Amino acid sequence: MAPARAGEPTPTVECIGQIGYGWAMGRLNEKIALISGAGRGVGRGIALALAKEGADLAFAEIDPETAKRTAAEIEALGRRVVSVVCDVGTRSGCEEAVARTVDAYGGVDVLINNAAVAAQMAPITEIEDEPFRRTMDVCVMGTFWFMQACHPHLVSRGGGSIVNFGSGAATQGMPTQLAYAAAKEAIRAMTRVAANEWGRQGIRVNSICPVARSEAMVGWAQEQPGLLERYEQMIPLGRIGDCEDDIGRAVAFLASDDAHYVTGNTLWLDGGYGAVRA
Ligand SMILES: NC(=O)c1ccc[n+]([C@@H]2O[C@H](COP(=O)([O-])OP(=O)(O)OC[C@H]3O[C@@H](n4cnc5c(N)ncnc54)[C@H](O)[C@@H]3O)[C@@H](O)[C@H]2O)c1
Repeated sequence: MAPARAGEPTPTVECIGQIGYGWAMGRLNEKIALISGAGRGVGRGIALALAKEGADLAFAEIDPETAKRTAAEIEALGRRVVSVVCDVGTRSGCEEAVARTVDAYGGVDVLINNAAVAAQMAPITEIEDEPFRRTMDVCVMGTFWFMQACHPHLVSRGGGSIVNFGSGAATQGMPTQLAYAAAKEAIRAMTRVAANEWGRQGIRVNSICPVARSEAMVGWAQEQPGLLERYEQMIPLGRIGDCEDDIGRAVAFLASDDAHYVTGNTLWLDGGYGAVRA
């Protein structure tokens, strides 16, 4: 049998002599993906989805325990992982994560700027400077520092894919979310600028706005009973997204060459929630 080529359907051992084909390669084979906040929630779901598509991973996660747990899950899938415990709300944390990724793998192809905090949810009149700044540091500056530190490595690989994170809370102007909303819309603006500046270098930059049953979402639901049920009623597909299956797999598409003509976009991974409210 001729050797399988990347992306080409080929009979699997189980399928020989039967009807049916498996895929010889994952969409992200031989790709290195750096994911911030991969310890839990959406970041963990993306890590699992990318690993199942063949990527080797690096994490930048502030919580050593959850980082260790997700790393063990990735290794159990047979993929490599470098786990950097750091604070992405600092330039040094972001730069260290990129340096250790490049030391381990020789480069980086995919950057997922997932980590975020909403350091204070409060009416505008009560918002304090420090939590506002912390929210901006982790969300906006972290995304900026990571994009800047990864850029030379993406260029030296001939391009790559960056996925940044917006939020429906920002586009809808949700009350009590001023700092988080400001951060998330700043990130979508940075995404468009980077897509323009770096497109000719083969670097694609997109945002996603997810709705997913992450630990953060479950925490808000405990504070506001009935929240998840109300959400589900407003989502055309009738359910809150799964971190891996609904969000991670779509991010794997954006990270892969299947999305090679997609840049500067926001992909709404929300079961249609934003589309019907726009
Ligand atoms: N879950 C949703 O429905 C939803 C909706 C809109 C946007 N988002 C966006 O999706 C992303 C993931 O959200 P989530 O719901 O999974 O959140 P989450 O709070 O459940 O997980 C966030 C992860 O980031 C890590 N992290 C936080 N601060 C960090 C720091 N300073 N340095 C390194 N790691 C840090 C956390 O430890 C955690 O592992 C965020 O960008 C969020 O704004 C999520």
